[in-house]
Amino acid sequence: MSTVSVSTPAPARKKVTTLAFRQKKERGEPITMLTAYDYPTALSMDVAGVDSILVGDSLGMVVLGYANTIPVTMDEMIHHCRAVSRGAKYALLIGDMPFMSYQADVNDAVRNAGRFLQQGGMDAVKLEGGRERVDAVRAIVGAGIPVMGHLGLTPQSVNLLGGFRPQGKTASAAKRLLEDALLLEEAGCFSLVLESVPARLAEHVSKKLSIPTIGIGAGVGCDGQVLVTHDLLGLFDRFTPKFVKKYADFHGEMKRAFAEYLADVQARQFPAAEHSVEMTDEEWESFLKVA
Ligand code: KIV
Repeated sequence: MSTVSVSTPAPARKKVTTLAFRQKKERGEPITMLTAYDYPTALSMDVAGVDSILVGDSLGMVVLGYANTIPVTMDEMIHHCRAVSRGAKYALLIGDMPFMSYQADVNDAVRNAGRFLQQGGMDAVKLEGGRERVDAVRAIVGAGIPVMGHLGLTPQSVNLLGGFRPQGKTASAAKRLLEDALLLEEAGCFSLVLESVPARLAEHVSKKLSIPTIGIGAGVGCDGQVLVTHDLLGLFDRFTPKFVKKYADFHGEMKRAFAEYLADVQARQFPAAEHSVEMTDEEWESFLKVA
């Protein structure tokens, strides 16, 4: 009699929800999040098993070449969200509300947040700011849309902050950040990004909140981590913040591949026979007869 080994099938992966975020915090399991702006990147990080994908307005800098995130529009965000939502089946998808899509008017904020779900295929939205955004957060959550907050270095306020610099370093700034975090939780945020704040402060805030914090340049004491994928892949040549760990050098690899292609074309080594379509001798002869 032959022995057949039956292995237990891997449990089917489930779509990540905002509830799953909360449960991960309760179990002490780190939440993984990355940014994506297109279909193939979203597909490969979804297959890798990332918990959440943020279509960040950082796309203005790393994809569209703007100097900062201020010029990014709703239409640009929706265009990229649609591509990401076609690539990712399981990750919780979060669309980043761009500058002036939620600051001026709470009704606009709700309508624009709605576009991320209806037109962009997102599951939730993210917006920047603390106490001054509480009304917008309440109204968006009231419309049934999950909201992620964002405190610390908030790039849409770069002109107010005087540059891309760490936040919450003085006692009063740290106190204000903690108060803002508690207000956002109370207003209904399901999670909070903490960007470029001292690690000790981020850990303290994370312990005070029951919603999960996602850190970027905020140390290991947050409930999860996010990085801008173009930084992680070494794809953005302009600058790399100190808090980034580069896992690849895609910019260098692209330069190498392009230089090799140019050299091949110039030397007539590309396309080779295997890259070309050919006619049979018979087909060629019959063409010559009619030509
Ligand atoms: O726009 C973005 O990518 C972000 C992350 C840095 C959190 O807001």
